[in-house]
Amino acid sequence: MPEEIKRELLAIADALDGLLHWETELSGDGFPSVKVGEVLRPAAPRAETRDAVAPPPAAAAPALADQAARPVPAQAVSEPPATVSRGVAVPSRPIDPPPALHVLQAQAAVCTACGLHSGRTTSVFARGNPEAELVFVGEGPGYHEDQAGEPFVGQAGQLLDKMIVAMGYGRDDVYICNVVKCRPPDNRTPLAEEAAACEPYLRGQLANVNPRAIVALGKCATEALGCMSDGQKRWRGVWSEYAGIPVMPTYHPAFLLRSPQFKRDVWEDLQVVMTKLGRPR
Ligand code: URA
Ligand code: SF4
Repeated sequence: MPEEIKRELLAIADALDGLLHWETELSGDGFPSVKVGEVLRPAAPRAETRDAVAPPPAAAAPALADQAARPVPAQAVSEPPATVSRGVAVPSRPIDPPPALHVLQAQAAVCTACGLHSGRTTSVFARGNPEAELVFVGEGPGYHEDQAGEPFVGQAGQLLDKMIVAMGYGRDDVYICNVVKCRPPDNRTPLAEEAAACEPYLRGQLANVNPRAIVALGKCATEALGCMSDGQKRWRGVWSEYAGIPVMPTYHPAFLLRSPQFKRDVWEDLQVVMTKLGRPR
């Protein structure tokens, strides 16, 4: 073989090797990596793109009667949201939640509606953009979330962040909450009665944020949103609905940490969501 062709083949092999290294070392989470600067804000303003979803009935949230009298937590001071222009890359920053979410958050902070309240350090309400077009619903806070008062800050949360960035969003462009707001002992799955006691908060959150789509992370969230029927074999990757909002159930990131071979399935599910939201794949 002529020397020149040999050199070229070696150079190609080198380049492929480099690419492979990049994929395994840097994008080892199994999701395509996107540079932070490339992340675009959702293109369409919500008023143009969503159908209005009625807020829950007044009786929905626990102990709503005296909501006006309850103190609002210190972090709940609002400022006007940033102006976001269409398609222009802007740094992600959280937008303060509207008052109804403040009220729910203040109630969850002192809630004793189920047994989980006795083991909590803080109740963990939500993080992210309360005007998001996309909401992720997880199971319940773990040790780190209970300490930090913020959902998905541990290892599973870091993987979730990578999934969000791979979808082309900034970490704080989406809204993230859990089925239960207080940490279950030993990180066990919440009991049905705990999920039921906490459901009015979740319902209030979803009605307020009114996203264009919800991703249910794991079976617990899928069940809590009423998106799994008895004996249903395939539950992930099929559209369902909660209060008129499309729900895509997929595997929980904590499960992916133990079984990374299922990351491909989750990425497929997230791409279906991206298509629904009109985002480039
Ligand atoms: N797992 C969840 O389901 N939620 C969290 O907030 C953290 C881990
Ligand atoms: Fe209240 Fe939910 Fe906490 Fe139970 S888990 S005490 S219902 S906030």
